[in-house]
Amino acid sequence: MRRKLIAGNWKMNGLSRDLVEVERLRGAIGQPEADILICPPATLIARMVRIAEGAPFAIGGQDCHWAPAGAHTGDISARMLADAGATAVILGHSERRADHGETSELVARKVAAARQAGLLAIVCVGETEAERDAGRTLEVVGAQLRASLPPGVDPRGLAVAYEPVWAIGSGRTPTGAEIAAVHEGLRATLAASFGPAAEGMRILYGGSVKPGNAAEILALPGVDGALVGGASLRAEDFAAIIAAA
Ligand code: 13P
Repeated sequence: MRRKLIAGNWKMNGLSRDLVEVERLRGAIGQPEADILICPPATLIARMVRIAEGAPFAIGGQDCHWAPAGAHTGDISARMLADAGATAVILGHSERRADHGETSELVARKVAAARQAGLLAIVCVGETEAERDAGRTLEVVGAQLRASLPPGVDPRGLAVAYEPVWAIGSGRTPTGAEIAAVHEGLRATLAASFGPAAEGMRILYGGSVKPGNAAEILALPGVDGALVGGASLRAEDFAAIIAAA
């Protein structure tokens, strides 16, 4: 059995005053059944790591550069995230692919950097609405995943997040059967790359996960957790999702 992972992606949200949500979360979740991760903006990582000391959750980044250091103004390396106390990083989120033109080939280099720094790499894939309507979902996410994995990477340091682009922030989700089918397809892609070790890899679902639908989604076959955006910002909502795992 894979232990579930519930990860919160704060995206470009969060000021010092919002750290109180993490204190509240700490008080609200007791000893959860799942692994818990919060990925705040980089400016809050070190302070959140202090709040997370002795708590049942870890802190992660939302992106990293592929190089360990160098002349890359504005970027943050995986080594820097680890140095700040992060233990994981989200890579290849559709918002980075769209806003910053990130390709799967670039994502693969970032995954390699994250693993080099000892971070869990959460690799995101997802189809657009047009791709789904054209019946191309499995083909698109499978190709994204294959191209986002660096050669020779150790699968134990990897997780995958399936996030349909059209479900992010929209309040819409695929049906349970549709989610399960994509997770099955992604598992087959992982098995083709990693063999039996693919069985131990977690595949999360993301896109409009809320307290009201979390239990149903998390109970689907092949769903090993959730990557939560908007509903991870408030302790009450995120704690309710964690309780559903
Ligand atoms: P929402 O939960 O706000 O739809 O965001 C999902 C997401 O993009 C998490 O990475």
